[in-house]
Amino acid sequence: MRSDDKLPVHIAFIMDGNGRWAKKRLLPRKFGHREGVKTIDRVADDVFGRGIKYLTLFAFSTENWKRPKDEVSGLLALFDNYLTKRLPKLERDGVVLRVIGSERGLNDELRGKIDEAYKRTCGGTKGNLTICFDYGGRADIIGAVNRCVESGVKVDESSFPTFLQTAELPDPDIIVRTGGEHRISNFLLYQMAYSELYFSDTLWPDFTAKELDDILKAYSKTDRRFGGVDEKR
Ligand code: IPE
Ligand code: IPE
Ligand code: MG
Repeated sequence: MRSDDKLPVHIAFIMDGNGRWAKKRLLPRKFGHREGVKTIDRVADDVFGRGIKYLTLFAFSTENWKRPKDEVSGLLALFDNYLTKRLPKLERDGVVLRVIGSERGLNDELRGKIDEAYKRTCGGTKGNLTICFDYGGRADIIGAVNRCVESGVKVDESSFPTFLQTAELPDPDIIVRTGGEHRISNFLLYQMAYSELYFSDTLWPDFTAKELDDILKAYSKTDRRFGGVDEKR
C-alpha cells in the first residue's frame, strides 16, 4: 500500500472457513474457531494500524443456532472469552467495541459484558470494532421497520438507516468473505447496497496482512460511480 492510496472508511468481513481449516488438520471444528479469534486480533491491528476507522466482523448469524449444541456453546464461550480478555487492549488502543445482533439467546452475564465493553470503550478515537453476533440482515431490517411503525414517523432513505442496528456506522465500503463461498448469508443486506465485494478462497484462520493489502490496493483502484458516470472514461 502506498500512503496516498484511497482507503476505505469501513471494511467488513464475513469470517468463513474456520471449520474447514480444522478439518484439513483432522481437528475438531472448535480448533478452527479458536484459531479464527487469533486472526481477528491480527486483522484488527492491521486495519486500525492502516488508519481505517471502522471494522465490522460477522461472527455468528441468526442461522448459526442450527449448528450442533456443543459447537454453539463453544462459540458462545469464545465470544465471552474474547470480550473479557481483549477489552483492556481495545480500551488502551482507543477502539470502540460495539456488539450488534439479537441478545435473546445470550445469558445475563454475557449481556452485561457487552454493555460494559461499550461503556468502557465508547470514548475511543482510534477506531470502531463492531462484532455481529446473532446478527441477521433480515432481522435487522424487520426490527427497524417495526421501530419505524411504533414511532409513527414516515421514513425515507436518509432516516431509515437510523433505525437499523448499524445506526452509528457508515455503510461498509468493502465486504470481504473468506472461505471460498460466493454468498452473503444474511449479512448487512440493507447497508451493502454500494459495497465493493471481495471473495477470497483463503480460510479465515489463514487470512494474512498481505491479502488485506491486496484487497486495499484493488479497492484504491475502483471507480465507485454510485449510479453516475465517470467523466474521465
Ligand atoms: C465461520 O466458519 C464461523 C462461523 C460461522 C461461526 P465456519 O464455522 O462456517 O467454517 P466452515 O464454513 O464450516 O469451514
Ligand atoms: C456466514 O457463515 C456467517 C458467519 C461467518 C458468521 P456460514 O458458514 O454460517 O454461512 P453458510 O451457511 O455457508 O451460508
Ligand atoms: Mg461456514
